[in-house]
Amino acid sequence: MLSTKHLLGIKQLSKADIELIFTQADHFKEVLNRPIKKVPSMRDVTIVNLFFENSTRTRISFELAEKRLNADVLNFTTSSSSVSKGETLIDTVNNILAMKVDMVVMRHPSPGAAIFLQKHINASIINAGDGTHEHPTQALLDAYSIREKVGELTGKKILIVGDILHSRVALSNIYCLQKLGAKVKLCGPPTLMPQNIESLGVEVEYDIKKALQWCDVANVLRIQLERQDIQYFPSLREYSLYYGINQTLLNEIGKDIVIMHPGPINRGVEISSEVADGKNSIILDQVENGVAVRMAVLYLVHQASVAELQNA
Ligand code: CP
Repeated sequence: MLSTKHLLGIKQLSKADIELIFTQADHFKEVLNRPIKKVPSMRDVTIVNLFFENSTRTRISFELAEKRLNADVLNFTTSSSSVSKGETLIDTVNNILAMKVDMVVMRHPSPGAAIFLQKHINASIINAGDGTHEHPTQALLDAYSIREKVGELTGKKILIVGDILHSRVALSNIYCLQKLGAKVKLCGPPTLMPQNIESLGVEVEYDIKKALQWCDVANVLRIQLERQDIQYFPSLREYSLYYGINQTLLNEIGKDIVIMHPGPINRGVEISSEVADGKNSIILDQVENGVAVRMAVLYLVHQASVAELQNA
């Protein structure tokens, strides 16, 4: 059983929680490879996907995971809702829950939005990304994909490259990979590196060649221009020149490095097409694994919620 009936962030999960999610995801991955890809594990459970910020992968992956589990699914996007008329987040969610909805999956631009909501409602909440804070299911599917490709994470050297400052993927990955025993190094321009990030137990390397020489796996992040209120580097061209991952650079390093990216990709900026689509890239495996991992999270969060009700 999970130690929590919510998934607010990786920070709140134990190593045992993460391993339980992976074991359950292994089972659901097998289900997804059957001719009939559905199981009745969440029949009669109603889930709302509340997306206050744009998404392609996460929203579709959650909806597909819910449908594969036979849950009833509602989708909400801000642009077509009464949020634009001034309704608060708590009022919006309480009105949806009044219609007998059991679980909330939420993406929100404000860091801490899922934690805030959890204090005000009774339903289980899964954080699908809250601003620059956490993106727990992305970190889980990333770690699951690394484990699938290179084996258990203990002692593995994982590099996270790019816009660390604005990245919820980076923070959730740091928590998740460290809980599983991996070594984590960060690389990017000094202006996109959070101050005192070393206090989380990670190393920082500003030289991309040295960073790549060190790692087994490189997780390449997008420059999040939509979260940047000032200019953090002179131009995208300059960023690409110093920190972009391309085949010439990898050839110079001369070792096989597993390449990851959470998407969406800005081809030719943080990663070249040759590398993103190359033989060492597991970018689409990450997307595929996302469905099984999210099925596992939804199922286990629901089980924990049912157990809490039974013990009340
Ligand atoms: N990786 C990720 O969160 O992608 P989306 O923003 O498309 O959901």
